[in-house]
Amino acid sequence: MQSNITVVVGAQWGDEGKGKWIDSIAATAAVVARFQGGNNAGHTIYHAGQKFVLHHLPGGIFSSTTVIALLQGMVINPAVLVREFDQVRAYTDVDPKRLWVSSCAHLITPYHIFRDQQSEEHAMNPIGTTKRGIGPAYADRALRSGLTVGQYIHKPSYDAWIAEQRANDPAFAAFYAAETNQWIAFASQAATIAPFVCPAEARVRKAVKDGVHLMLEGAQGVLLDRDHGTYPYVTSSSTITAGAFASLGLDPRLLTRVIGIAKAYLTRVGGGPMPTELKDSVGEQIARLGQEFGATTGRPRRCGWYDAVAMRYAAEIAGIDALYLNKLDILNDLAVLKIAIAYDHPQLGRLTDFPKDAHILKDCVPVYETVPGWQGDLPKHGTVDALPAALRHYLDRIAYHSGVPIVKVGLGPGPDDYCDLA
Ligand code: IMP
Repeated sequence: MQSNITVVVGAQWGDEGKGKWIDSIAATAAVVARFQGGNNAGHTIYHAGQKFVLHHLPGGIFSSTTVIALLQGMVINPAVLVREFDQVRAYTDVDPKRLWVSSCAHLITPYHIFRDQQSEEHAMNPIGTTKRGIGPAYADRALRSGLTVGQYIHKPSYDAWIAEQRANDPAFAAFYAAETNQWIAFASQAATIAPFVCPAEARVRKAVKDGVHLMLEGAQGVLLDRDHGTYPYVTSSSTITAGAFASLGLDPRLLTRVIGIAKAYLTRVGGGPMPTELKDSVGEQIARLGQEFGATTGRPRRCGWYDAVAMRYAAEIAGIDALYLNKLDILNDLAVLKIAIAYDHPQLGRLTDFPKDAHILKDCVPVYETVPGWQGDLPKHGTVDALPAALRHYLDRIAYHSGVPIVKVGLGPGPDDYCDLA
């Protein structure tokens, strides 16, 4: 069967600036599907001169001819989703014909948010989660005690689910009794969401059989993958390409291409090892110029040099074919730039493969290749020849050490501020 399926993933620890590219990639897709995560994500998209920070809705939302699917691998906060519908309504069609919400996706309930906050506040080693209830919602899904969208919008099923939780879990019962208003507000969104609920996976698979271009949009980044990321400092879903196919229930052999989006440096939010982290004035400069604050939580992001060891691993676990590299302009005026090409570990010696085990990674010291920086502002677009020679050299070294071709580079925040390399 001839297929045309593009997977777009963040190739680092999230916040790679996927929003900058997603809409243009989505422009050629008939269907765009989000396959994991929830409102821990925050995509910034500029449309009609306005800035939108969307947490559930993927790229393509502003093109009324594009079908948007929220697949079962997601966890959904209904109040946030309804707010997003309201945010975009004046600019695009919010219509069940083109907005499909999987009846098998799970809900993030008030109790999940409470548990996430409690465990972060009382943990000896907090993960640094977004406190949006993501981990507990996925945990309940794995325990088979979670609430699906299908149950949520069907009042008798919802009431039965609440009754069962109250009977089986005294902590739930106590929270339910104490926070009645939260539960009333939670249940009140069901009527708004109900018209959009459908067997989204089957519909998307049918569209694939019909030969349309499907884009599967990842949230967070592949180094935060529940299985292949730096556990336990990960999110609770499968962020890699294989996760997209598991969420959709599609033959992975139908995959056409994987685009990885990365920054020309590295950031991380929350806890967990990050060998190239810069705790000096260079790190502060990158954070300031790059406005490195979380789109969802506003937390400052940790900044560091580009890590080609991590990128080689990311490309391997997600099958990345092409890299879109963002925010080159943030590195203007640095005397030198560093690229991590290996790690030294006190017991294990020189490592060229990324050790995903957090307890090994935390002791890794990067081995850097240092290259000259470039001075002055960059052109906002144009051809690669117009870019400073030092920048082109930096890109060459990144591509060489990462083992992935760089196809586009971001030269500024606007959607047109980029240049094609291939
Ligand atoms: P959770 O997904 O809220 O459970 O958080 C788990 C880890 O993933 C924490 O380190 C978060 O900072 C990180 N994380 C979750 N969502 C994002 C995101 O969209 N961008 C960057 N990091 C994220």
